[in-house]
Amino acid sequence: MIVLGIETSCDECSAAVVRDGREILSNVIATQIELHKPYQGVVPELASRLHTEWIAQVVEAAIAQAGITKKDLDAVAVTSRPGLLGSLLVGVSFAKCFASALHIPFIGIDHIRAHLYASQIENPLEYPYLGVLVSGGHTVICRVDGYDKVEVMGTTIDDAIGEAFDKVAKFYDLGFPGGVVIDRLSKDGDPNAFLFPGPTLDRNEHPYDMSYSGLKTAVINQKDKFRSEGAEDTPENIAASFQRQAVGILMRRVRKALKDTGLKRVSAGGGVAANSLLRSELKALEKGGYTVTFPSLKLCTDNGAMVAGLGYMYLRDGLRDDSHLSASARVSAFKKA
Ligand code: KG4
Ligand code: ZN
Repeated sequence: MIVLGIETSCDECSAAVVRDGREILSNVIATQIELHKPYQGVVPELASRLHTEWIAQVVEAAIAQAGITKKDLDAVAVTSRPGLLGSLLVGVSFAKCFASALHIPFIGIDHIRAHLYASQIENPLEYPYLGVLVSGGHTVICRVDGYDKVEVMGTTIDDAIGEAFDKVAKFYDLGFPGGVVIDRLSKDGDPNAFLFPGPTLDRNEHPYDMSYSGLKTAVINQKDKFRSEGAEDTPENIAASFQRQAVGILMRRVRKALKDTGLKRVSAGGGVAANSLLRSELKALEKGGYTVTFPSLKLCTDNGAMVAGLGYMYLRDGLRDDSHLSASARVSAFKKA
C-alpha cells in the first residue's frame, strides 16, 4: 500500500510517499524557518499563508521524487491534530480534496502519535515500550502498547522542553530555532558553569510530570545567582548549563518510569530527540540492559514520512476518515495512567 503523508501542523510544509508503512520513497520538507527567523518564533498567520502557497508544489515534488504518479497512491494521511489550527486546516483541506479527486481513502493523524511512530520506520521496536515525546509543543512520557495505544504517564505542567530551548535562545539572541543553536553552542561550554535548578514538583502524586518554566526563568532572569565560582558568563556556558538541566529533568523521570514499570525498551521522538546530549543519555541506558531507539535526525522534527507511516497502520486495520473530519488545535484524549 502506497500512502501519501501530509504534515502542516506548524512551520514545516511536508509531504512524503511511504510504501507499507516503512519504506520511504520520498520525504520532502519545505521549512519556513528562514521566514520566521526575523520574529525568532513561528508566526501562526504567516505559517498558514505559506502552507497555502506551498502545499501543492510540495505534494507534487513528493510524488515525483518517489518515482510514481498520483494514480499509484492508495491513500492519503494527514496530520489533523494538535497544532496551529490555521496551518492544520491547510493540510486537512488539501488532503481531503486530493483523496476525493483520486477516489482513495484518507485518514487524519494525531501528531503526537506520529512522532512516537517515527522511530518505528527505521528501527522497529517491539511493544510495549516507554515513549518519550519531546518537541516544541509537547513533553510526554508514556507507555506505548501499540501504534494507537498510548497511555500518558507524565507531561510538562507548563512550557514544553523545546519551547524552553527556544525561549532561552530568543532571550539571549542566540539564533532560531533555539534548540539547534543551544545544542551546537553547548559543545564549547561548561555544563557546570551555572547550576540551574530543576523543578520541585510533588514527586508522590505526579512522579513523572515535568516543569520547564522555572528553569527558563532562572536562566533568563536569575543567571548570576546560579553562576559557579570563577565560571565565565559566556553564551556557550549558559547554553551548556541550561541544556544539562533541561535534559536532566527529563532523564530523571525517564529512569524512574523505567524502574517503576519494568519496561525494557525506550523510544524517543520529536524535534528535541535530535538533541545530542539527550541522545547520548538515552543511549547510555543500553548499558543497563535497555533497548533504545530514536529516529534519524530528519525524522525527529516534523515530516510527512511519520504521518504516512502511521497512516498505513490505521488503513491496514481498515480505519479511515470521512469528509467531516476537521482539524483541531487540541491534544486528543490520551488515557492517563
Ligand atoms: O517536532 P518539532 O519539529 O515540532 C513540534 O512538534 O513542536 O520540534 C521542534 C522543536 C523546537 O523547539 C526546536 O528548538 C527543537 O525541536 N529542536 C531541538 C533540536 N533540534 C530541534 N532541541 C534541542 N536540540 C536540538 N538539536
Ligand atoms: Zn512535531
